[in-house]
Amino acid sequence: MGGLIMKNILLSAALLLPCASFAQPSSQVAWTAEQIKFVDAGNPQKGQSLAITCSACHGEKGISAAPAYPSLAGQLPAYIYKQLQDYSDGNRQNPIMSGLAKTLSKQDAADLAAWYGSQPAAFQSSSQMAYPLAEVLVKNGNSERVLPPCEVCHGGNGKGQKIDIPALSGQNADYISTTLKAFKAGSRGNDIYSRMRTIAQALSDEEIMELGYYYQNIKR
Ligand code: HEC
Ligand code: HEC
Repeated sequence: MGGLIMKNILLSAALLLPCASFAQPSSQVAWTAEQIKFVDAGNPQKGQSLAITCSACHGEKGISAAPAYPSLAGQLPAYIYKQLQDYSDGNRQNPIMSGLAKTLSKQDAADLAAWYGSQPAAFQSSSQMAYPLAEVLVKNGNSERVLPPCEVCHGGNGKGQKIDIPALSGQNADYISTTLKAFKAGSRGNDIYSRMRTIAQALSDEEIMELGYYYQNIKR
């Protein structure tokens, strides 16, 4: 008898868990006028000295040292700031970045964002040069799968769009496909309104791989 009650309690707890995590917002960052002003006022000189801690992975000037690490040079400051807050708040999780982001103040994050954003974007073309599926998705989307063209949001040459839609051109292909797969699986869920999760779920793994090569090869 006691065992059955216990089992029921455990079962209800298990059923409640997904609801609780679903109710959590995808990000704590809200783009109020005040928040935008705060990020815009970031100090790039201070950011540059803070970035010494980051350079082993993201490169001295934000051009990453290895394909698994995202480049940050030329990225939109608001996007960088939001990612650092999301790691710090637990809305985006990564064994390296979650811990590191917690050590930064909001001012540090704004300063780092200003510095990386002011650096010239990366460009290292990938060896893979054919991506017919990606070209269609970027320019036309896919109406059957209700997929808008990527460029509507990410810009015609992948240069990103205000306030916080990231630049993709020049980014490492490996990183792009890894993060798209994370959106697809739901292990990355910090996109406000689920915009990227919804899109990534409709993409095949082959399309995801091509999209990585496509964007790495675009010059801004
Ligand atoms: C030991 C390696 C390492 C160090 C040091 C490091 N990072 Fe990262 N960083 C990563 C990895 C790996 C990722 C991708 C994680 C993921 O998939 O979520 C990442 C992701 C990021 C992102 C998200 C980029 C995007 O395009 O979404 C930002 C912003 C960032 N790091 C900033 C920083 C800053 C600022 C510092 C220094 C304070 C720093 N990182 C130090 C490895 C590192
Ligand atoms: C409706 C607008 C919209 C469309 C369409 C869209 N995206 Fe996004 N994308 C976003 C937003 C917003 C983010 C930032 C999510 C966040 O805050 O973490 C994002 C993030 C990303 C990232 C993560 C970048 C990084 O540095 O980690 C990748 C990769 C990406 N999108 C690829 C694509 C591709 C490929 C397509 C087309 C198949 C596409 N997106 C279509 C809005 C869009």
